[in-house]
Amino acid sequence: MKIGVLTGGGDCPGLNAVIRGAVRKSLLLGYEVIGIKNGWKGLLEKNYYKLDHDAISGILHRGGTILGSSRTNLYEEGKNYYQLAIDNYKEMGLDALIAIGGEDTLGVAAKLYKDGVNVIGVPKTIDNDLSGTDYTFGFDTAINIATDAIDRLHTTAESHNRVLVVEVMGRHAGWIALHAGLAGGADITLIPEKPSTIKEICRVLKQRHDRGKTFSVVVVSEGAKVKIDSEEDNSLILQNLKKDSFGHVALGGIGNIVADAIENEIGYETRAVVLGHIQRGGTPTAFDRVLGSRFGIKAAELVHNKDFGKMTALRGTRIVAVSLEEAVGTLKTVDDEIYNEAQILFG
Ligand code: F6P
Repeated sequence: MKIGVLTGGGDCPGLNAVIRGAVRKSLLLGYEVIGIKNGWKGLLEKNYYKLDHDAISGILHRGGTILGSSRTNLYEEGKNYYQLAIDNYKEMGLDALIAIGGEDTLGVAAKLYKDGVNVIGVPKTIDNDLSGTDYTFGFDTAINIATDAIDRLHTTAESHNRVLVVEVMGRHAGWIALHAGLAGGADITLIPEKPSTIKEICRVLKQRHDRGKTFSVVVVSEGAKVKIDSEEDNSLILQNLKKDSFGHVALGGIGNIVADAIENEIGYETRAVVLGHIQRGGTPTAFDRVLGSRFGIKAAELVHNKDFGKMTALRGTRIVAVSLEEAVGTLKTVDDEIYNEAQILFG
């Protein structure tokens, strides 16, 4: 068999571990593997190279992706990209494709499967918002980076008697904010699933300061919905009009708006820090290297068994296969149970 591997969407730590796991297992099974460059874009351009032992040597601990990535949507309205992709898949002599990506890349994979392509998906995203799997790889690294940042901000916030607002990634789901907030001891965490107002946030901070504390740390997801006052919804102010081919706006900036609003409301000196792509770059944690490697191996096994249209998933401690279509059907957002636990530690 000839297998193509590609990585799409935002990069994330652990991608190279998946590629290595998938290639090593495929080579053991006697298959040929090619790496398709820059996600679905590479399939349109027939941009690929052979992945042998040498090509995947020394990459396990490296962040990013040796294959490159893009946010190309093969099913973008008004374009016939998917037809060209299917033609190229056949022309390149491929028997199967392993697509490593998040909701967008795997959404395309699910559609390609329906259109007759032998696809296997691997769930990647620092946001941890894919259904069907307990965790996506990359999330653990992101929350460790964010927790480390919160720890550092705590000490400087305390020295200067300030409120520090830390903006983390998380477009539709607040998993990064919630976990990093819990681990870092945030005094309040704002996530997309739980809209809040500046008045409520300030009430929590004031209570804390009334207890004698002179500093606070606020963690906010980039996609959080915060109202400055009852009329105005912050999420609207933050929308950048430029959209990618999947229709997503570029987020970023809510931290500064929240910080200004807190200072205006209660007069505490407040500063903001936007962690941004730092959360996606660099060395993966041991957890993400292990999860990525196991996902890669499982993906190659699914190809071997011709069990297409599936996504590798972590359930408990086991790696299993779930339906790609179901996995991309609904996003996994933060549930009330864990949010209520986190809330107990606010203030
Ligand atoms: O989907 C992962 C993610 O990191 C989101 O948290 C974030 O909104 C988005 O990607 C940023 O994408 P880009 O790197 O294209 O700006």
